[in-house]
Amino acid sequence: MSRSFQQDNLIGQSNSFLNVLDQVSQIAPLHKPVLIIGERGTGKELIAARLHYLSQRWDQNYLTLNCAALNENLLESELFGHEAGAFTGAAKRHEGRFERANGGTLFLDELANTPAMVQEKLLRVIEYGEFERVGGSRSVKVDVRLICATNEDLPSMAEQGEFRADLLDRLAFDVITLPPMRERQEDILVLAEHFAVNMARELGFELFSGFSEKAKRILLEHEWPGNVRELKNVVERSVYRTNNPYVPVHHIQLDPFESPFRPRNRVRTLDRRPQTENTVVAIKEQSSDNPPVVAKAASSFDFNQVQDFKVLSENFEMDLIKQALAANQFNQKKTAEALNLTYHQLRGYMKKYKLLDSQQ
Ligand SMILES: Nc1ncnc2c1ncn2[C@@H]1O[C@H](COP(=O)(O)OP(=O)(O)O)[C@@H](O)[C@H]1O
Ligand SMILES: [Mg+2]
Repeated sequence: MSRSFQQDNLIGQSNSFLNVLDQVSQIAPLHKPVLIIGERGTGKELIAARLHYLSQRWDQNYLTLNCAALNENLLESELFGHEAGAFTGAAKRHEGRFERANGGTLFLDELANTPAMVQEKLLRVIEYGEFERVGGSRSVKVDVRLICATNEDLPSMAEQGEFRADLLDRLAFDVITLPPMRERQEDILVLAEHFAVNMARELGFELFSGFSEKAKRILLEHEWPGNVRELKNVVERSVYRTNNPYVPVHHIQLDPFESPFRPRNRVRTLDRRPQTENTVVAIKEQSSDNPPVVAKAASSFDFNQVQDFKVLSENFEMDLIKQALAANQFNQKKTAEALNLTYHQLRGYMKKYKLLDSQQ
């Protein structure tokens, strides 16, 4: 029997997810900062809350702040508070999140782009447990457990001088890295069922009749760039659009923007007119539903003129995939093998270049 876990709405039974939960249980009781890394929608906020509620601080305050939502001055004053008269509009003394979280836990989300001055103050709180309110000179002492989250690669940011390396060292006592949905294949249908049942309940249905085989296949084959959050949205939308408790959900609308009336963005592509000697390869506005440009060898371009690297590379990729598909009778598994891609990678490219059946 597989180990499965279901508590505080954290669902999952894949090994990579269960390993994360083990790590969370182990580190939760320690008075050490924790860094949570993961793509968007992987459950960073849920994990942060779980760390707090599994710690001895569970009955104390748990405060959160999204660092990316505030500019430098507001962020500093939200975190550390300010004295009366510290700046125009600061009529009264304001307690920051650190003071209000005293004895408990403070979760700082989207930490990566925190301004240098705030990073410096954070370093000092972690090191000495003290800071000054904005406009104040007296040190305030606090006992706060810090949990931070980001979807950026902080070590490479530190290498490039975009994040303080000494702060990263202090924060990274232990790092919890959340697996993306595509590495948790076993969890997709479990999570989908969970979100579908909740949605059915919300719609007042007395039962949920499951997913059709085709619907399951679509859920399993999608790349899930938005991870659990995206899966939740897709499932909820499909249940509510089906709007019938007695039939299995069959139609999965991955992209809510999909519509024949969707306005098309104009994209920059290369002019296809035949080239005469010394003609400039003109880059002109072309509607994205025009036929693709046929890829040509790099040696045939005139690099004394501006060439759009991205457009040329994308045209080449699209052409390659189309040709490989045709050569393999549109069998996607064989095509993926022929290009030394995984099936999911190929599907990703096909989606990008609108080559999936559902996109035509
Ligand atoms: N393991 C999980 N079980 C159930 N729901 C989850 C799980 N992981 C994430 N979610 C849900 O997915 C959404 C995104 O999670 P969130 O913690 O906000 O992600 P992040 O902060 O990494 O962007 C939320 O609605 C959350 O409740
Ligand atoms: Mg988040």
